[in-house]
Amino acid sequence: MITLQDLLSTLKQVIEPSSGRDIVRLGWIRDLKMKESPAESANSDAQMSFTLLLSDPTLSFARSVKKVCADLLAETYPGVQIRIEQDSPMIGLGDDFRIDGKPAERGPGEGVTNIIAIASGKGGVGKSTVASNLAVALAAEGYQVGLADVDIYGPSIPTMFGLESAKPRVSPERKIIPLEKYGVKLLSMGFLVDPDKAVIWRGPMVTSAVKQFLSDTEWGDLDYLLLDLPPGTGDIQLTIVQTVPLNGAVIVSTPQRVALADARKGVGMFDQVSVPVLGVIENMAYFTPPELPDKKYYLFGKGGARALAQDLNVHFLGEIPLEESIRTNADEGTPVVTDPSQNASKIFKSVARDLVTQVEWRNAVRPATKVIDMVRG
Ligand SMILES: Nc1ncnc2c1ncn2[C@@H]1O[C@H](COP(=O)(O)OP(=O)(O)OP(=O)(O)O)[C@@H](O)[C@H]1O
Ligand SMILES: [Mg+2]
Repeated sequence: MITLQDLLSTLKQVIEPSSGRDIVRLGWIRDLKMKESPAESANSDAQMSFTLLLSDPTLSFARSVKKVCADLLAETYPGVQIRIEQDSPMIGLGDDFRIDGKPAERGPGEGVTNIIAIASGKGGVGKSTVASNLAVALAAEGYQVGLADVDIYGPSIPTMFGLESAKPRVSPERKIIPLEKYGVKLLSMGFLVDPDKAVIWRGPMVTSAVKQFLSDTEWGDLDYLLLDLPPGTGDIQLTIVQTVPLNGAVIVSTPQRVALADARKGVGMFDQVSVPVLGVIENMAYFTPPELPDKKYYLFGKGGARALAQDLNVHFLGEIPLEESIRTNADEGTPVVTDPSQNASKIFKSVARDLVTQVEWRNAVRPATKVIDMVRG
């Protein structure tokens, strides 16, 4: 039996030549479907179907991609009927995404494929640490990555990347040019606004600043733009997540009961605005003393976030241990992923790879905007 995952792996072999990236990674595969029982549908409908959402139909490859996919699938799955529809909204991925039926307002730009919010209910659970390390891990995997710190009251990204006194430049078109470190394009409200002065800003000022900050930045082409959100599930967070066309959200929680209750509210907030929750990460899951490498101490309780994910029917992306190196590296401006000898570096990289799978999966099975016709049956 062929699964959707098999299909995605096959389609990953199709490379768009000008970017060198596969069409799954580019977010071109949408509304992927597979009939449960191919035998029943042999004469009625296609057994597998999907939409090719061409983010840039002017690419010469766009003219041949449907045939390339059809030929590859016919060769890999002989006898299986395939329907491929093609759609080309002439806009970047994300613009087809609607909140409350309204088109998303100006987003971070057409070249940004996936925008992912890193959120939590409770503060101090490690959102910024997780966001920084995932960003560096994705960049190390070869993805083009941006990280935007939209926590106006307590920005941490400047410290975590050792860029406390850095100021981004402005292009002649009056766009902000993000800073770049460890392969990640970085922008923090902390680079632009004095956090001491921002404390008196009210909600609407914050959200319009965030909107402007994201859309007036020259992000260029990005596979992933991660947003490090401020803690909580109040109006500010709700407005931010409605301001940009998010592909999904990652919820960070510690296993502690108080954090879990807030994480649940976080999942509820994204549900409310129809943003898929890509997964839950359990941070500070356990502590292993360096001299006792086989021991795990569950200081904040065991497996709480994993159980919450299960309860809410959300994917569990993994456990990050409580490790001194994670904190010291963050304080020194070198996210722990930059040091491959650290255990935590390997763990963050594996969570990042799982996140990529979840995003590609979500993109592929999420319905596309509209449907044209088919190529072969
Ligand atoms: N797994 C970990 N092991 C050790 N220290 C950690 C870990 N995760 C986070 N920390 C430390 O905990 C503190 C809080 O982390 P961080 O700033 O990432 O949390 P946050 O959720 O972004 O906080 P806020 O809600 O204020 O934005 C930091 O000092 C960070 O270095
Ligand atoms: Mg933070």
